[in-house]
Amino acid sequence: MHIALIGPPGSGKGTQSAKISKLYALPSISTGELCRLEAKKKTKQGRFVKKTIDNGKLIPDELMISLLKRRLGKKDCANGFVLDGCPRNMKQVKLLGKNFHIDYAIYVKLSESAIVKRLSGRWQCRKCGNIMWFPTKKVAKCSKCGSSLYQRDDDKPTAIRERIGIFNKLTKPMINYYKKKGVLHQIDGNATPEEVFGRIKKILH
Ligand code: AP5
Ligand code: MG
Repeated sequence: MHIALIGPPGSGKGTQSAKISKLYALPSISTGELCRLEAKKKTKQGRFVKKTIDNGKLIPDELMISLLKRRLGKKDCANGFVLDGCPRNMKQVKLLGKNFHIDYAIYVKLSESAIVKRLSGRWQCRKCGNIMWFPTKKVAKCSKCGSSLYQRDDDKPTAIRERIGIFNKLTKPMINYYKKKGVLHQIDGNATPEEVFGRIKKILH
């Protein structure tokens, strides 16, 4: 089962990908996380990736797909995977399509005002990657492992605007492509995480 979660920033791709991964025993692969890992490297490429992410722009397609293919080549992906945040444009659809067929393209819709609200309150665990939401900056610990939390550098207003713009311009056109292929499922992401997951389970069952 090859699933691709598509949606604007903050629509809940990471949150839902973790739930799908747990229930269906499939690895959840976030291309954003792959990029953030690359950005930590003290290399020329690492510095370039960091700058690109922090500005809210997409990293080049060939680089993204090569990082992703390396991950998808690992043993745990043999029976399927959930892609969180990829493909992101038609070029990536084509590059990925050379090796993998997407069975379910799930588009999680969310309004711009909800996106901004969610991203400004998002906190992530440094150790286990658990994603949480708090309306204030009051420091809390991870609800799963108790480790400290951080906020992403690209969750600043200018970078959020850039990411939304890129989604509308480059990612949305993919929606029609997957519709024509007969694998597109659109859901409203404006509900509790459990309700959204219920909508996804109906699609996958
Ligand atoms: P990426 O990490 O994929 O970021 P994104 O697409 O902007 O999406 P987010 O991770 O911000 O949001 P999400 O949809 O995962 O929502 P979440 O579950 O966290 O990409 C980052 C960067 O990496 C890109 O800008 C680019 O530079 C690079 N990159 C990545 N993929 C690439 C690609 N394919 N090609 C090129 N470059 C690429 O939820 C958000 C918050 O809301 C959380 O606090 C959560 O707790 C809360 N929340 C979740 N669901 C709900 C709900 N139902 N109700 C209330 N709150 C909720
Ligand atoms: Mg995410």
